[in-house]
Amino acid sequence: MTEPGFSVPSGGPGAGSTTELRARFVEQIRRDGAPMSAELAAAFATVPREAFVVEGFQGRDGGWVSPGDRDFLPAVYRDDVLVTKVDGRIPVSSSSQPSLMAIMLAALELRPGMRVLEIGAGTGYNAALMATLGAEVTSIDVQADVAERARAALLRARIEGVRVEHGDGYAGAPGRRFDRVIVTVGVAGLSPHWLDQLEPGGLAVAPVEHAGTHPVLAARGAADGPVTAAVVCPSGFMSAAGPLTADHPFAHPAPATAGTLTGFEPVSGPRWAPALDSMSYRDLWYAAGVWYRRATHGALPGFEQSLLVLLDEARTGGAAVLPDGGVLAGGDEAAGYAHDAADVVKRWESAGRPPMQAWRVTLALTGRPDAPIWVPATWQI
Ligand SMILES: C[S@@+](CC[C@H](N)C(=O)[O-])C[C@H]1O[C@@H](n2cnc3c(N)ncnc32)[C@H](O)[C@@H]1O
Repeated sequence: MTEPGFSVPSGGPGAGSTTELRARFVEQIRRDGAPMSAELAAAFATVPREAFVVEGFQGRDGGWVSPGDRDFLPAVYRDDVLVTKVDGRIPVSSSSQPSLMAIMLAALELRPGMRVLEIGAGTGYNAALMATLGAEVTSIDVQADVAERARAALLRARIEGVRVEHGDGYAGAPGRRFDRVIVTVGVAGLSPHWLDQLEPGGLAVAPVEHAGTHPVLAARGAADGPVTAAVVCPSGFMSAAGPLTADHPFAHPAPATAGTLTGFEPVSGPRWAPALDSMSYRDLWYAAGVWYRRATHGALPGFEQSLLVLLDEARTGGAAVLPDGGVLAGGDEAAGYAHDAADVVKRWESAGRPPMQAWRVTLALTGRPDAPIWVPATWQI
């Protein structure tokens, strides 16, 4: 089954009807841990995600999946990010992972009739979900072709109530007022323009850089402060262009790429059996970012997953904390960094293993003098 006025290949034999695929899709999003109201589940079950990726996307194996392919619809209706544009090998636009979208939309506390500013229109799919929930959406994308394709997709899917604009989202939508801001690209901090355009008591949900990743914050405040936030969930968004990712004094180091950290040796053995699951490891990671400015992540030879690393200033050494609490270290200052890494583990354990959601964040105004941003600066549990 396809939407009225919109037609894509059926997905080939065995793909199942789109209605069935969407029903399974909603169940998958729930299983992956996203809280969903009946309204949000209905939005995921009715908005045709395939209408937003008609030029295809990058599959898990790196190949391009197109609407004519047998696996197209099953791949569209997986709880997976769909990368829709790459620059060389770097993804520069995508439809985000649906369970992450669901968690962010729940945190947005959206109600029908609310005016929403979205930064990062991408495919337009998230804007379509919000419009289906009754919001009036202004969505901005820095790439003109991406904004144009999002407009076309919204028309194709017959979604009303979304205005897509081309521009740097830093400025927001001057002269307009919003009840909510949602940012769907990784940023170093919040633009004061968004806070200025928010009604008093409004909420901004945004993935803000912390220790090399982008945990999602739900922030409130005025353009001239104070600005405070709760932590919603971990995320790994692509980074924004322009002043939204400006370097600043509170920033953690950029992640260490493969091949830069070599010669790391075990310093202390496992502390936890079984090892932390991925969520708890993220919680430890978050705490490490609060306590140590050099916390980020890095690829270490022999480890498939990226690890929590306290990176030295040379960016070639430091210490890594494994999910089982073991510590490896390397480089000229290995001993000092190993001590700090062991301290992170002990401190997090003796604090009762706080989840990232336990932290309350206070933001400070910094960034480029001509385009300041509010960035996380102090934390308390
Ligand atoms: C992960 S995608 C957004 C996903 C989208 N909300 C969806 O539903 O498909 C991130 C988008 O942010 C855009 N972007 C990057 N920097 C930006 C900026 N400074 N202002 C506005 N958009 C930006 C990129 O062009 C990209 O399309």
